Amino acid sequence: MDTRLSYFLGEVGRGIRRDVRRESVGDGFLKGVAMAGYRHVTRYPTIPTASVVDLIPASLGRDLTIRYQYGGWNIDATSLVAITAIASGIDARSIFEFGTYTGVTTRQLASACPSASIVTIDLPPTGEHFHAGSAFAGTEEAARITQILADSTTFDFSPYQGSMDLVFVDAGHDYELVRADSEHALEIVRPGGWVVWDDYTTWPEVRKCINEIAREHPVVHVEGTRLAALVAGTRSQGPDDDGGVTGST
Ligand SMILES: C[S@@+](CC[C@H](N)C(=O)[O-])C[C@H]1O[C@@H](n2cnc3c(N)ncnc32)[C@H](O)[C@@H]1O
Repeated sequence: MDTRLSYFLGEVGRGIRRDVRRESVGDGFLKGVAMAGYRHVTRYPTIPTASVVDLIPASLGRDLTIRYQYGGWNIDATSLVAITAIASGIDARSIFEFGTYTGVTTRQLASACPSASIVTIDLPPTGEHFHAGSAFAGTEEAARITQILADSTTFDFSPYQGSMDLVFVDAGHDYELVRADSEHALEIVRPGGWVVWDDYTTWPEVRKCINEIAREHPVVHVEGTRLAALVAGTRSQGPDDDGGVTGST
C-alpha cells in the first residue's frame, strides 16, 4: 500500500480507537484526520519522487568514497551520498554551493569530481560557532575551491551566468532567502545542468519555495533523501507537452 495512504489510515485508526476507549464520538477521529493531514503536509513531498539512478543512469555501480562528518548544520549522510552520486554521475566540472558551513559537502564534491572547480559562498564571519570552509582548508582539494564570504541574496552572480554543471542550494532556509538563492541558482546553472536543494523534506519554508518552483520547472524529490533536484532548461509537464526530467546530461 502507498506509504502516505497507510500513514493516513493509521492516524485515523488510532483516532477511532481513542474514541472507542473514551466512549466519545468523533473527537479522536477528527484529531486523527487532522494529524494525518498535518503529517502529510509537513513530511511528504508534493512533487514527484525519483531515485538517483532513475535521474542519472550513469551513476549506477559507481564506486563512491564518502567523507562524512556528522553534526551541526552538515548535510545528512544519505543526502551526501546522493549528491555525490549526482555530481559524479554527470561528471560535473563546475559546481556552485550556496552555504559552505564547514565545507564537508564542498570537499566531498571536489574529491568526487577531480576535474571540477567549485565555488562556495557563505556569510562573512560573524562570531558563529564554526569557521566557513574549515573542512577543506589545507587539503589537496582546496586548490580547486574558491571561497566567497558574502551574503548570497545580494551577491553579484553575473560572472557565473549559465555556467554551472551543478548548483547546490543550502544557505539560508527562510522562504525569502531560499527564493532569492533559487532564482540565482537558476541563473547560473547551464542548460542541461543540475540544481539540487537540501532540506526539501525537513524545512517547510524550503519546501514551500521549491513547490512553487515546481509549477514551472520539473523538480523532483530525490528518493530516500532530503534533496530536491531539477535539470535546467526542461519544462514542467503541461497538457500538450511531454517535458519533464530528461535524465543524464
Ligand atoms: C545548512 S548550512 C550549509 C551546510 C553545507 N552546505 C553542508 O552541506 O554541510 C547553511 C549555511 O548557510 C549560511 N548562510 C545562511 N544565510 C546565508 C546568506 N544569506 N548568504 C550566504 N550564506 C548564508 C550559514 O552561515 C550556514 O553556514
